[in-house]
Amino acid sequence: MLTSSQRAIITATVPFLEAGGEALTTHFYRTMLAEYSEVRPLFNQAHQASGAQPRALANGVLMYARNIDRLEALGPLAGQIVNKHVALQIQPEHYPIVGSCLLRAIREVLGAEIATDAVIDAWGAAYQQLADILIAAERDAYDVLAQSPGGWRGERNFIVERKVPESAEITSFYLTPQDGKPVVDFKPGQYIGMRLDVSGEEIRRNYSLSAAADGRGYRISVKREANGVASTYLHDAVHEGDTIALFPPAGAFTLGDSIKPLVLISGGVGITPTLAMAQAALAGAPRPVVFIHYARNAHAHAFSNVVRDWAAAFPHFQAFFVYEHADVTLARQPDAVGRPAVAHLEQWLPADRDVDAYFLGPKPFMRAMKIALQEMGVPDAQAQYEFFGPAEALD
Ligand SMILES: Cc1cc2nc3c(=O)[nH]c(=O)nc-3n(C[C@H](O)[C@H](O)[C@H](O)COP(=O)(O)OP(=O)(O)OC[C@H]3O[C@@H](n4cnc5c(N)ncnc54)[C@H](O)[C@@H]3O)c2cc1C
Ligand code: HEM
Repeated sequence: MLTSSQRAIITATVPFLEAGGEALTTHFYRTMLAEYSEVRPLFNQAHQASGAQPRALANGVLMYARNIDRLEALGPLAGQIVNKHVALQIQPEHYPIVGSCLLRAIREVLGAEIATDAVIDAWGAAYQQLADILIAAERDAYDVLAQSPGGWRGERNFIVERKVPESAEITSFYLTPQDGKPVVDFKPGQYIGMRLDVSGEEIRRNYSLSAAADGRGYRISVKREANGVASTYLHDAVHEGDTIALFPPAGAFTLGDSIKPLVLISGGVGITPTLAMAQAALAGAPRPVVFIHYARNAHAHAFSNVVRDWAAAFPHFQAFFVYEHADVTLARQPDAVGRPAVAHLEQWLPADRDVDAYFLGPKPFMRAMKIALQEMGVPDAQAQYEFFGPAEALD
């Protein structure tokens, strides 16, 4: 428990975090990843290079400092962190490493004049308080996952039963556990964690589950990224019959219980969680579903047949596809051509804007969708999104 003077010190450091939080977390990661090889494989180096992870942590620390007197306000952010940590198997023994590197970064970046002993003591206590909250929530999540039917703790080996190309750049992997036993259910929208050894180096990645739960196995669908370590390895070096280590599913971007019309909007490989959501919605009580997908072109357009089949089979399921450029040679033309636009949504969404919308894609796409949904009057709380990487601000 923090003393009132420690809380006052944390509040007083908010302006420094607002101004220099990202410099602090960048310095923190640089030191920690250079000096602690045991935590390096947990982190995606591309998220360090782009600055997305230092920004996400700086935002987390700032939110914590701003809300030090009312921690309940951190609920959704803490939930998102816990889910990400669980999917990557962060353990209690990792926390002291992060804590000591964070305090060292505060001292080194803010300097001795600002980072006095009292400031370091207050931040040490504040870090421990937050670490205790996260460790407890993560322990609960690990226990629930281990004790649920088909659940497990840590790694479990899965066989690549089938590998199916879905477009020029996206391939699905059908994964069943090597032990032949059932697998734990997941909520549509959740993702798994994966551990790979690539050229002798351990890496971890998350992949959304792209088909509804069936208790037998999981499907993920991976886009080949130019020079991407994991995706290139999965596409080129992992074959049917090979084994991959998975961590159990997690994630807070999930289809809620609702009977409102459902709007699923995706760009590129962002389609993956929306497929599991659409499938779950079609299996439940009938509700209108509008499925909108943006692809660069017909070659990059994955899952077009399965989505078209749903539209043909279910009168309450409507699908619309948009390609970036026109191509008169295509046998099946898209419903529109061009960049994501509010005009598309105006045309295709139900007249009553009391819908549940979920969207996912590249950041500029998500920004456009967020603004479009707001302009159309969809309440913010009913327009949910997730990043295929550290969470970032869309405004
Ligand atoms: C919750 C969640 C769900 C996800 N679901 C899916 C999914 O369903 N399907 C899917 O395909 N992906 C999904 N992802 C993304 C996935 O986890 C990987 O990030 C993605 O596959 C890229 O990983 P990679 O190892 O291939 O690429 P990385 O090696 O991580 O590289 C990514 C890009 O960054 C560039 N890069 C790497 N390092 C540097 C550097 N030092 N400097 C400059 N550029 C660099 C690379 O060239 C590449 O273009 C999801 C991510 C999250 C967080
Ligand atoms: C109080 C302590 C911590 C806080 C406040 C914190 C905060 C965060 C935040 C905000 C994110 C981004 C979440 C998202 O947007 O998806 C994140 C991701 C992550 N955290 Fe933590 N974290 C803490 C402790 C730890 C520890 C102890 C480890 C293990 C060494 C760890 C490893 C990770 C990893 C691997 C990711 C994903 C990074 C990536 O995508 O490359 N965190 N954390």
